Amino acid sequence: MPSNSTKILLLITLVSGMLVSVSSNSWIGAWMGLEVNLMSFIPLMSNIKNMYNTEASLKYFIVQVLASATLLFMVVMKTVTEDLFTLTNVGTPYTPMIVCTPLLLKSGAAPFHWWFPGVMEGLSWENCGLLMTIQSAAPMMLMSYLIEANPFMLSIILASTVVGAIGGLNQTSMRKILTYSSINHTGWMLMALITGDNMWVMYFMTYSVLVLTVLSVIKLSSMSFINQTMMANSEAKLMKFMMFTSLLSLGGLPPFLGFLPKWFIIQAMTMNKLMPMATMMVITSLITLYYYLKITYSSFMILATEPKWSSQSHKNKTTKNISAMILSSISLTGATLCTIIASTN
Ligand SMILES: *[C@@H]1O[C@H](CO)[C@@H](O)[C@H](O)[C@H]1NC(C)=O
Repeated sequence: MPSNSTKILLLITLVSGMLVSVSSNSWIGAWMGLEVNLMSFIPLMSNIKNMYNTEASLKYFIVQVLASATLLFMVVMKTVTEDLFTLTNVGTPYTPMIVCTPLLLKSGAAPFHWWFPGVMEGLSWENCGLLMTIQSAAPMMLMSYLIEANPFMLSIILASTVVGAIGGLNQTSMRKILTYSSINHTGWMLMALITGDNMWVMYFMTYSVLVLTVLSVIKLSSMSFINQTMMANSEAKLMKFMMFTSLLSLGGLPPFLGFLPKWFIIQAMTMNKLMPMATMMVITSLITLYYYLKITYSSFMILATEPKWSSQSHKNKTTKNISAMILSSISLTGATLCTIIASTN
């Protein structure tokens, strides 16, 4: 396991790799940034004391290297018909498809999502958070140069939302559930890219805050499987409540922050004449809300037990508790505050 200073160094190179690839003006630069980003994430994942970490980092490495190599190859192929390595598309019909495919594999969109659950299962919560948010930013930003509402992209988006909804149904592991939710949000973010870049930035920021909230609550209550929500002592009542609201927020239920980006995207889709698509995506999000409710239902209702005494002291968790509380109150009231602020000027 890397020491703290190594971790700081790797986090800095990870973020700068992402920034290099987002701000580069040629495909070669973009590829280079992605590579730096990957090479700093791999050592962050590894932990010699835990064999699942090793397995996850190996799987992640193989898949991402496959994607990078394919991207490099596709970019070189692109030079046959178009200007050398420029980001813009001069209208060759298949270029968006061939260049986007490796990027879709990198960000874990639906038909290319198979590596995602396996990798997430072996990671610490912090790394799960990195994988779900920052690691998918650069590929998405690169896709924004080429993306358009063609049948290829629309079917990828639909597949992502359907896989996200169906895949999470029978899962008992929180990591798996978050993975499928991330696959689903990748689909929504691709749709956000189609309707405009700043729409995507807004979605991505909100999604990152929500993931951070859910992860901080889960980590605080060290809950890896959903049956662990039922065993809770009285200090954990607030925790259960935060868990409940932040998951529903991630699922996009109206009064919470998660609804805000969803609302914007649905509106943008109706303005871009993508109504059938919007209908199908909203239906898949209903399935999702069912299993988010399922997680929290048992922890609040008949199956919940509560010991009268506890041998553990929970006093030392106060500071972490405070950050989880701040984050979950943002996810609880964010959408309301945003709409109030927006409607007063
Ligand atoms: C997918 O995203 C939408 C929009 O935010 C949300 O309504 C839905 O509940 C999500 N589904 C999953 C699996 O997270």
